Amino acid sequence: MAAKRKATSAPVGRREDLLVKVEEAQRKAGCVSEGFIFETAQSLGLPVSEVYGVTTFYSFLSVKPLGRNVIRVCKSVPCYLKHAEMIIENVQKVLGILPGETTVDGRFSLELTNCIGACDQAPAMLINDEVHGHLTPEKIGEILRSYK
Ligand code: FES
Repeated sequence: MAAKRKATSAPVGRREDLLVKVEEAQRKAGCVSEGFIFETAQSLGLPVSEVYGVTTFYSFLSVKPLGRNVIRVCKSVPCYLKHAEMIIENVQKVLGILPGETTVDGRFSLELTNCIGACDQAPAMLINDEVHGHLTPEKIGEILRSYK
């Protein structure tokens, strides 16, 4: 009888495959489903908790379906010091949703994130892969209207 392999003894290559697999699932399906997490854990010989942990650690991965356009407003210190809260409040007001929520029509999801690498343009946000910087509350409506 073969010895049962411990989940934590997965070959290094398998752990390296994990992030690639969840990123691919996110890109194709718009989220990493519970079913995908279980299947991936099984196929890579990893604990479900590890796959779930990786999926929920990265702000660019989501276990729930997101809107067609995902807004990620930076909440890190440089943006905070440039009044990122006013940007967050204005996006909430325009869309009628809170961070972590999606509009009823599925057009937008709002997320808060750590630095997106645009500190020189603080306060900044991403919409999908596009950076919007030097934000003011007045710019928010026009920016959001450009996304269908
Ligand atoms: S701190 Fe906001 S983009 Fe870097």
